[in-house]
Amino acid sequence: MPASTSLTRELDPLPRLLMGPGPINVDPRVLRAMAMPLLGQFDPQFTGYMNETMGLLRDLFQTQNRWSFLVDGTARAGVEALLVSLIEPGDRVLVPVFGRFGHLLCEIAARCGAEVHAIETEWGTVFAADAIEDAVKHHRPKLVAIVHGDTSTTMAQPLAEIGELCRRYDALLYVDATATLGGMDVPVDRWSIDAASAGLQKCLSGPPGSAPITFNERVERAVLRRKHVEAGIRPAGFTPGAGPRIQSNYFDLPMLMDYWGEARLNHHTEATSMLYAARECARVILQEGLEIAFARHAHASRALTAGLQAMGLNLFGDQRHKMANVTGVHIPEGIDGEAVRTAMLDDFGIEIGTSFGPLRGRIWRIGTMGYNCRKQNVLICLAALEAVLRRAGFACQAGAAVVAAYVAYDAPPVGHP
Ligand SMILES: Cc1ncc(COP(=O)(O)O)c(C=O)c1O
Repeated sequence: MPASTSLTRELDPLPRLLMGPGPINVDPRVLRAMAMPLLGQFDPQFTGYMNETMGLLRDLFQTQNRWSFLVDGTARAGVEALLVSLIEPGDRVLVPVFGRFGHLLCEIAARCGAEVHAIETEWGTVFAADAIEDAVKHHRPKLVAIVHGDTSTTMAQPLAEIGELCRRYDALLYVDATATLGGMDVPVDRWSIDAASAGLQKCLSGPPGSAPITFNERVERAVLRRKHVEAGIRPAGFTPGAGPRIQSNYFDLPMLMDYWGEARLNHHTEATSMLYAARECARVILQEGLEIAFARHAHASRALTAGLQAMGLNLFGDQRHKMANVTGVHIPEGIDGEAVRTAMLDDFGIEIGTSFGPLRGRIWRIGTMGYNCRKQNVLICLAALEAVLRRAGFACQAGAAVVAAYVAYDAPPVGHP
């Protein structure tokens, strides 16, 4: 048998600057937290960390919701846990789709047995509140599921009015805040969002693998009517809820609530190192201050877009609704987008994003998120992109991008104290 090099070769990932739409470089504080010794899941110190994490997540989501905890898995684990626990077969669900992740919400809702009604707007645009209201009025859904920032298009849907709108029609509102939490304002209570979920690998500066979620009493009531505890851990005298059993055991919110709540009823084994990571991610950003973090992302966005435009590149989408932490930019005519990405990676160690669906081959996506959202990275990325583009024959003025980004950085950050 040939000797397997994987037996003798250590893992040796190259140093990369991850300037795509996520994952990003993890904050070293988070990596250190992940290296801490494991504890048993019912060790009082560990359950103490679980409780602390719940408190930190409340602050991150700007909510008083008791139920703010982690679902183990990448961001879509949080999406699935909320949707599969909320949606009973036959329920009407409205999904305003403005990018790939809206389609994902439709797909998950359909798998849960929902009667899904999607409304769509062209990629690069978002919905006016009126359009969502018309659809809610027409379809009268139990649940409106919507993405806040869709990384596929780099657009952020304004949500301030949507929660109240849903309440007027007695619908619940779920928001996928995977790509915005920590980088843009997501005030769950102020916006009357009933449930929201996120991931660590974007503006929270962590690795993929843990999904913070939060939900209020309206959602709690809806899922508790489906409460069925598995045999083997079921307390004596337990009476199941009247509603249909939740199709997933792993993502069953009532059982997860019993695990994270005072009952501490065994469910899965909490992913110890990922909990350490999530706790540290939240501490990092809350210590910085949410407002300051939002301003940092907005400032980087202004500097990056100024630099790209100074290079003569065209930004993608309705700029009034661009996410602060991801920027879409058109691949110029005659330039091979993939060759540019390869040169960025091979020659500079910088990853920028490709795109999919109708935008495949049309735009690059550049992320400035969490730990990576800093002036030096914006300047390095612009300088590298300019060098690669010029080498590929694209005519632009040498140095103009970095100068424009400097000017934007020299202007005071909007919203910064
Ligand atoms: C808005 C949004 N939702 C969901 C996801 C899915 O996240 P994950 O790949 O961590 O499951 C992503 C990932 O990019 C995202 O940007």
